[in-house]
Amino acid sequence: MTTASARLSIDPSARIGTVHRRLFGGFVEHLGRHIYTGIYEPGHATADDQGFRRDVIELVRELGVSTIRYPGGNFVSGYRWEDGVGPRDERPRRLDLAWHSTETNEVGLLEFSEWLERVGSDLMLAVNLGTRGLQEAIDLLEYSNVPGGTELSDRRIAHGRTEPYGVTMWCLGNEMDGPWQLGHSTAEAYGVLATQTARAMRQLDSRVELVACGSSGAGMPTFGQWERTVLSHAYDEVDYISCHAYYEESNGDTGSFLASAVDMDRFIDKVVEAADEVKALKGSDKTVNISFDEWNVWYISRFENVDKIEGIDNWPVAPRLLEDEYSVLDAVVFGSLMISLIKHADRVTSASLAQLVNVIAPIMTEPGGPAWKQTTFFPFALTSRLARGEAIDVHLEAETYATATYGEVPLVDAVATYDADGGAAAVFLVNRSQDQSQRVVVDVSGLGDVRIVESHALFHDDIHASNTLEQPDRVGVQELPCAIDGEGLLTLELPPVSWGVVALSCSR
Ligand code: AHR
Repeated sequence: MTTASARLSIDPSARIGTVHRRLFGGFVEHLGRHIYTGIYEPGHATADDQGFRRDVIELVRELGVSTIRYPGGNFVSGYRWEDGVGPRDERPRRLDLAWHSTETNEVGLLEFSEWLERVGSDLMLAVNLGTRGLQEAIDLLEYSNVPGGTELSDRRIAHGRTEPYGVTMWCLGNEMDGPWQLGHSTAEAYGVLATQTARAMRQLDSRVELVACGSSGAGMPTFGQWERTVLSHAYDEVDYISCHAYYEESNGDTGSFLASAVDMDRFIDKVVEAADEVKALKGSDKTVNISFDEWNVWYISRFENVDKIEGIDNWPVAPRLLEDEYSVLDAVVFGSLMISLIKHADRVTSASLAQLVNVIAPIMTEPGGPAWKQTTFFPFALTSRLARGEAIDVHLEAETYATATYGEVPLVDAVATYDADGGAAAVFLVNRSQDQSQRVVVDVSGLGDVRIVESHALFHDDIHASNTLEQPDRVGVQELPCAIDGEGLLTLELPPVSWGVVALSCSR
């Protein structure tokens, strides 16, 4: 095996922006076995007094997820939030048209918010702007955030929840540009509805932070124009425009798949450009940022070809859907997507990994059985724990390789974070080469007195290795050997197809 080399530096003056905790958010949708037998399984050996799996709670805590978007996704566009509150035995069973399933409503806002307290994450709610509209959105806001003394806030209290939830992050619908979405819309019609709904929500609670739907992917035919039109209506009323992106290896083109973050970089840049164009046209002082509220590796083709449920007499409860098994290769791409998010920390100030348990998830469960970590668990947990303070541009110099989809792409990608108050820095790296290791030299002399605190890498002889029910611990992270010389040069070697992180303590 040959070795290539790359150079970079961590210079605190190359600040990109603050790394917000919300960048490490998650997403829980009523979909497949996410809720039922995922986070909630009353008969399970680890179930707590509310029926939540303690083994899953522990893993979610370890993952380090900040804000969790709920309850969808496509599901929310047909959801009646009232179905999920109040006495459980009175809750209706409903058809879920998004995933051709039956929703039992055993878990709703009341139970989910209890679960969030157990995992230590915040709630981000999505309202249904598909089959419903403004009235139901402000009803849900009243139920959630008004302390008491009105019909809906008192209903919450009667349901057993005295304190208001005080939810600040709200998504105005989901993927309203997509024909698969219930009640999908034109940019013009959605822009008007989102604006009206946002105004009404702010009239009720001025603390809310609102996310307008951007395109459901950069490949949508309306991408770009959708953002401009929606924001031409809603700019003054919203705080964020959403981005959604999923990546998969197709036609065996591993090289392009490994470069997926290049697409994410370009996607973010284009949405920023569209938002800033509207800002300039309006002469606004306000900046609309990005909520990247769905991102992941997802083998959508498997869902289209294998998983899809059909039939008028076939509406299963909690079917196995979107249960992708992630390889080391997938996790390396996943880690590079996190690098892309941090590289845009100035404008991507909220993000949600889609999703959390069983459904394209870092955590898997077996009904009545164990829970385990997928390969993607490791880059998420380490990045969430170690990326603190400010995102730093590392001025990377690396060799390139040719990809069929994205042209010439650097073999290495990297970003750093620097927390002056905490005396800590970290560098996150990926080696996209399939046959060369990378000798990486990082100039850390600008950080003062530097020591290595911890270093980890994710790689495997078999890049298709994964963790499964039978072999839950086949893949994990390993120590990444590295050293700092007297000149303040940190040296490390990244194996082919690998993701790594080095955490440093520093004092200036
Ligand atoms: O995360 C799975 C689905 O992907 C979500 O429900 C939807 O918003 C997106 O298309």
